[in-house]
Amino acid sequence: MSESGHMVSIYDTLYTLFEKAIIEAYPDLTDPPVVISSSNNPKFGDYQCNSALPLCKLLGSASQGKKVSPREIADKIILKVASSPLVEKLEVAGAGFINIYLKREFGQAILANILKHGKVLSPPVVQKRRILVDFSSPNVAKEMHVGHLRSTIIGDSIARLLEFLGHDVLRINHIGDWGTQFGMLIAHLEDKFPNYTTESPPISDLQSFYKESKVRFDEDEEFKKRAYACVVKLQAHEPKYIQAWKLICDVSRKEFQSIYNRLDIKLIERGESFYHSRMKDIVKELEEKNFLEEDEGRKIMWGENREGIPLTIVKRDGGFTYDTSDMAAIKHRIVEEKAEWVIYVVDAGQATHFQIMESCARRARIVLSCHNIDFVGFGVVLGEDKKKFKTRSGDTVKLSQLLDEGLKRAEQKLMEKERDKVLTKEEFNKAKESIAYGCIKYADLCHNRNHDYVFSFDKMTEDKGNTAVYLLYALTRIRSIARTANVSREEMQEAIGKTPISLEHEKEWKLAKVLLKFPDVILKITKDLCLHTLCELCYEIACAFTEFYDNCYCVEKNQTGEIVKVNMGRILLTEVTAMMLEQCFALLGLKPVEKM
Ligand code: ARG
Repeated sequence: MSESGHMVSIYDTLYTLFEKAIIEAYPDLTDPPVVISSSNNPKFGDYQCNSALPLCKLLGSASQGKKVSPREIADKIILKVASSPLVEKLEVAGAGFINIYLKREFGQAILANILKHGKVLSPPVVQKRRILVDFSSPNVAKEMHVGHLRSTIIGDSIARLLEFLGHDVLRINHIGDWGTQFGMLIAHLEDKFPNYTTESPPISDLQSFYKESKVRFDEDEEFKKRAYACVVKLQAHEPKYIQAWKLICDVSRKEFQSIYNRLDIKLIERGESFYHSRMKDIVKELEEKNFLEEDEGRKIMWGENREGIPLTIVKRDGGFTYDTSDMAAIKHRIVEEKAEWVIYVVDAGQATHFQIMESCARRARIVLSCHNIDFVGFGVVLGEDKKKFKTRSGDTVKLSQLLDEGLKRAEQKLMEKERDKVLTKEEFNKAKESIAYGCIKYADLCHNRNHDYVFSFDKMTEDKGNTAVYLLYALTRIRSIARTANVSREEMQEAIGKTPISLEHEKEWKLAKVLLKFPDVILKITKDLCLHTLCELCYEIACAFTEFYDNCYCVEKNQTGEIVKVNMGRILLTEVTAMMLEQCFALLGLKPVEKM
């Protein structure tokens, strides 16, 4: 157990333990293989060390003459394993696997520590870092679409997880608020609402405003020219044009914000326009350092090995591009924000852009070897017809309407279960929102983000299987156990120091072992930034809990249904399970409800 207020990582502890033993057993080998995994079958222990086989190969190829079997190697390793509070016993099995059995007292101590602290503790993190997460990032005047929804949900969850680990996290919304599209928007605004500088124009439906101006832009040469002239004036910061630009951005901003409020997403807006002057600086810098090359009038920059395609830093007409803004942004993030790790959560279609951008930034020594840059890509959202998610008429689905539909479905679900008869209006609405937004987030997060996934309200609101509805219900059910057993908060608090968490029964121990995996799952996610493993853990917890609850009585009742005995050790196990699920939900952005 850790006294420092952290939850021990079993994997890391076992790794260190066996690494030491293997080095002691084979001091001549440099960097010997240390293979630790959790076991799927209790027959083979709780964890396994499977180093003997690769070691055997290694020793064989080192051809030190003597031939040893993997079993002999395993035996030799076991002799060197230091005693540890984690390990009950070790045994060699099969072709040389080492089965590791965990000590229940150790599990008990860790779980009791959670109860004592009143919260699930994070795993120890050696190095706290300053991390910038670039996510959501929709474009002004265009609808925020399901791709941005994915970025919003995944990015928020990554940020929550890194914050939980104690990192210093900056959540940045890199919105597309600068660029040539503003030329046509402003030109159209001038025509439709000539006195926009004094009177706020009614352009709440920016989408159709955008469409109208786009049609004119494509059809009318004269308009196109004016649109370009507007861009020039805007980029020269002429007050009237800046005002028009602000007006348009404000409308979008309000819409975005209402989505963020509904989904409880916190972000700092720092759009492309923020980098306007910094774009000039970065172009100058790259130019002076001779990184830019002429290419048919454009100025381009190649990455480190001239692989792939180059970035376009300056267009033929002297304008800047998406590439320019990202180069200015990375410089600002590393140099001014002092970010040590920058994470971009953007659809997989932009993977190449970010690879090249990173490569150029490393070549220019803006990004150094001490910095990490991660591109967190994700697949496309599909409709139930397995085609790109669209409305029947082929338009992009409006996010606010999607969320409304979610609310409607959640309401239906609750009505089916006649929850309106039991819950107060306020409880009902809370449950409705929790289900609706929880389902939408969870359906996204529970899939491997690299894959496309099918958006289906029917699937995500199912109350069986790995869904938010199932998990939210599981938690309310678990929470209600202590309540029906009439165990008050105070009684529970009293019991924490005195009554050990009950881990005698096989199902109790099985549940505990799932809970103990939490730090390892979290640490794995910090490496691959794939959140579906956390969803899998939630589901595993809920299933292990059901098995435990079906087999182990938490209370005993007499014939008349009166409670005659409360098994406090089991109530405590129930409590720590609920706390663990709540913590996982918090990381996934799900809101648990007392009643549903
Ligand atoms: N606005 C862009 C889009 O909608 C995403 C921006 C991502 N972040 C960045 N630094 N480029 O595709």
